[in-house]
Amino acid sequence: MNILLTGGAGYIGSHTAVELIGAGHHVIIADNLSNSSPEAVRRIGELTGTAPAFYEIDVCDRAALDQVFAQEKPEAVIHLAGLKAVGESVREPLRYYRNNLDAALTLLEVMAAYDVKIFVFSSSATVYGEPGVSLFTEDMPRGVCSSPYGRSKQMIEQFLEDSSAADPSLSVVMLRYFNPVGAHESGRIGEDPDGIPNNLMPYISQVAVGRLPRLTIFGNDWPTPDGTCLRDYLHVVDLARGHLAAVEYAVGRTGCEAINLGTGQGRSVLEMVNAFSSASGVEIPYVFGPRRPGDIAAYWADPSRAAKLLHWHAELTLEDMCRDSWNWQKDNPHGYSEE
Ligand code: NAD
Ligand code: UD1
Repeated sequence: MNILLTGGAGYIGSHTAVELIGAGHHVIIADNLSNSSPEAVRRIGELTGTAPAFYEIDVCDRAALDQVFAQEKPEAVIHLAGLKAVGESVREPLRYYRNNLDAALTLLEVMAAYDVKIFVFSSSATVYGEPGVSLFTEDMPRGVCSSPYGRSKQMIEQFLEDSSAADPSLSVVMLRYFNPVGAHESGRIGEDPDGIPNNLMPYISQVAVGRLPRLTIFGNDWPTPDGTCLRDYLHVVDLARGHLAAVEYAVGRTGCEAINLGTGQGRSVLEMVNAFSSASGVEIPYVFGPRRPGDIAAYWADPSRAAKLLHWHAELTLEDMCRDSWNWQKDNPHGYSEE
């Protein structure tokens, strides 16, 4: 299939491109490189032996997107392009809404113009808000999000449900990711955050490689077994395979389906630190600090819908996640840049 992958130069996109190409699909990446590097695109080609088609465009640019559709004739779209830093979205809500909503709307309009019916969207567990339970199932309603980032995901889900109701021939899958971590086992592609990382795993990796002195764990007084928060961490390669399963599932059906992608298991921050130390052989110095505003004590996915509909389940272990994060970080201490 010809698959347009927006945001394909980014962390999840680059791993998804590798899996799609590996399965024999023709991948067309559209990315404005606002949070990624052309080197990632080059390495996708190096890893797979097949360079993806690459367009450095803003997905909000209707004319540019039109040209890509005219030239490449995609049969399906996997939409990952978006801004994703929660704290930044609180400080710059309009930039987040403009970019994330506009990109989704423009894509849906151009898809309609070219009669493309299959759309896979990268949503997030954040759409559940704080429901008061730890097991998140897709039939729970979307909750109250604490950030414009989260609300942009909720709004796009709403666009998709409305579009799907208006055009019953659309086939939409909204993938709700839990916490993707890790990197490709080759160590050639991985997560390359700009500046000081916000998320746990890249922070731990940068402590391990000596770029940061220590980790601050946000709270040890949570109502959890060891007092630190629990999350459902999944390997980014499993997540990428979930996209492959979703786009293939979307062929020949219609409707709009929300599907969790997670392991179903909650892990604490301390478990992650210890697992990383064992996998890398490097001690991770840490201190406990105050709770981070907006954090929730504990949640994880109910992954049974993904198993039932996509025949997908996470296969890689916590050890794989830590080993592969470390491989990537130690071989590329400054990510894709060469400093
Ligand atoms: P990323 O920043 O590495 O990738 C996003 C890519 O989109 C980047 O390459 C960026 O340059 C590109 N982009 C942004 N706006 C664009 C635009 N207007 N036009 C073209 N390209 C644009 O982030 P990621 O972690 O790979 O996340 C991918 C998607 O998954 C995002 O939509 C994110 O919100 C969602 N998501 C991520 C996580 C996570 O933990 N990483 C969790 C849930 C959902
Ligand atoms: C965060 C976002 C979420 C987004 C997801 C993926 C918030 C509140 N939530 O999820 O909306 O979908 O990233 O981008 O920002 N931690 C530390 N020290 C650190 C960093 C993290 O103790 O330096 C802890 C956090 O308190 C949390 C866990 O590690 O308990 C995971 O944090 P993180 O990787 O930021 O992911 P989430 O907060 O789950």
